[in-house]
Amino acid sequence: MKFDLLVKGGTVVTASDSYKADIGIRAGKIAAVGDLEAKETEVLDAKGMSIVPGGIDVHTHFDMPFMGATTADDFASGSLAAACGGTTTVVDFAIQERGKSLLDGLGKWHKKAQAKSIVDYGFHMIVVDLPEKLEKEMDKVVDEGSPSFKLFMAYPGIFMSDDATIFRAMLRTKENGGMICMHAENGGVIDILVKKALAEGKLDPKYHALTRPMTAEAEATNRAIALSEMAGVPLYIVHLSAGDAMDQVRAARQRGLPVHAETCPQYLFLSYDDYERPNFEGAKFVMSPPLRPKGNEDRLWNGLKNDWLQVVSTDHCSFCMKDGVDGKPGKMLGRKDFSKIPNGAPGVETRLMLLWDAVQDGKISENRFVEVTSTRPAKIMGLYPRKGLIAPGADADLVLIDSKKKTVISAKTHHAKADYNPYEGRSVRCSFKDVLIRGRKVIADYKPVAVPPHGRFVKRDPRMN
Ligand code: URP
Ligand code: ZN
Ligand code: ZN
Repeated sequence: MKFDLLVKGGTVVTASDSYKADIGIRAGKIAAVGDLEAKETEVLDAKGMSIVPGGIDVHTHFDMPFMGATTADDFASGSLAAACGGTTTVVDFAIQERGKSLLDGLGKWHKKAQAKSIVDYGFHMIVVDLPEKLEKEMDKVVDEGSPSFKLFMAYPGIFMSDDATIFRAMLRTKENGGMICMHAENGGVIDILVKKALAEGKLDPKYHALTRPMTAEAEATNRAIALSEMAGVPLYIVHLSAGDAMDQVRAARQRGLPVHAETCPQYLFLSYDDYERPNFEGAKFVMSPPLRPKGNEDRLWNGLKNDWLQVVSTDHCSFCMKDGVDGKPGKMLGRKDFSKIPNGAPGVETRLMLLWDAVQDGKISENRFVEVTSTRPAKIMGLYPRKGLIAPGADADLVLIDSKKKTVISAKTHHAKADYNPYEGRSVRCSFKDVLIRGRKVIADYKPVAVPPHGRFVKRDPRMN
């Protein structure tokens, strides 16, 4: 058999098995997996490497205006960071502008990504307001390949929707075959706690966490589940941080409801203690939901093992600490008032390396690693079997992991634009030797390759989950 590229001598790791095999690639697809011979074919040496399907990060915010700032990473730098971190597909959030059509917002995000993204990409649609006349547009968004809508129970005045609006969006989504993604925090309660803290002169970054209690997340998660059950629509809880919220998801799944949830590395590897860092450093970790007290992460790891959580994505939403990088304001906006710190942190580049390091500590198996970082997000988000597996017919999105070569995470060497890294100085037991997107090398021999932005929009199938 003739291939364009033969990946030879590695260990293939899938969501179910690990085995030695070669992978033949033709026209950007996996053509064969097995004991393969190279005939006039370029060979990529994979000896000693674990080969996993390219990471799928279904929660990124590239080129997003938010809280008076704009994220540091656009689709060019964000997708480069993704590729360097072994992520070959992202699903980003397109935003409807208040009073405007959903399709306008979606069109804007297509323009932001086109001819800029190195990795393949899809979109969720953030619904900001939904007059009845716009409901039918939701069907069009699904038909055009973006069958998931993010709604917010938090951020009053920016993104928050009331229960009636959420319920109408859910009823329409049940009909059009899409899925609801929910930011589940009780925004009304949080708003009062924030105002009270500010009035008491509590202005430091740590008050961001202290005004967003776990119960506000658990209550909203419970409410989102109840609303979705009444509407009969699948639900995906985004960036779940609190063990108590996870318990709501677990109970819903035990009752057979189509409820899924993702957590993110920051909730597995960082904690509330990071807000106590001096000199405004806590602002680096201001995100919503916030980091939780130590001990909570053990509950999430347990949930990942037991499938109470199905996905690890990043919520990559990067802002610089210093103002003025690329002319953009950053976290300094909240120097005197924690509630003005743009919420979010970078993560797309470090997700796979942090989790692979955790595999070596036995936190999850290597097969579960593949499941939560690639296969399951592909299935839930309608990308499977094109993405998320290593088998003939799938896109040749592959990562060759070298577990013997350490990486020290640092803003000095990362490819994202943020001027800090939340994991600065952390050493992980892996490096990515090669990363292929549809058979093209974007990382070769541990180094990024200068490639044109050949990332493609991937139309997602509705209701795969
Ligand atoms: O703090 C966060 N998570 N920023 C991004 C917006 C969102 O809610 O996902
Ligand atoms: Zn959110
Ligand atoms: Zn987000």
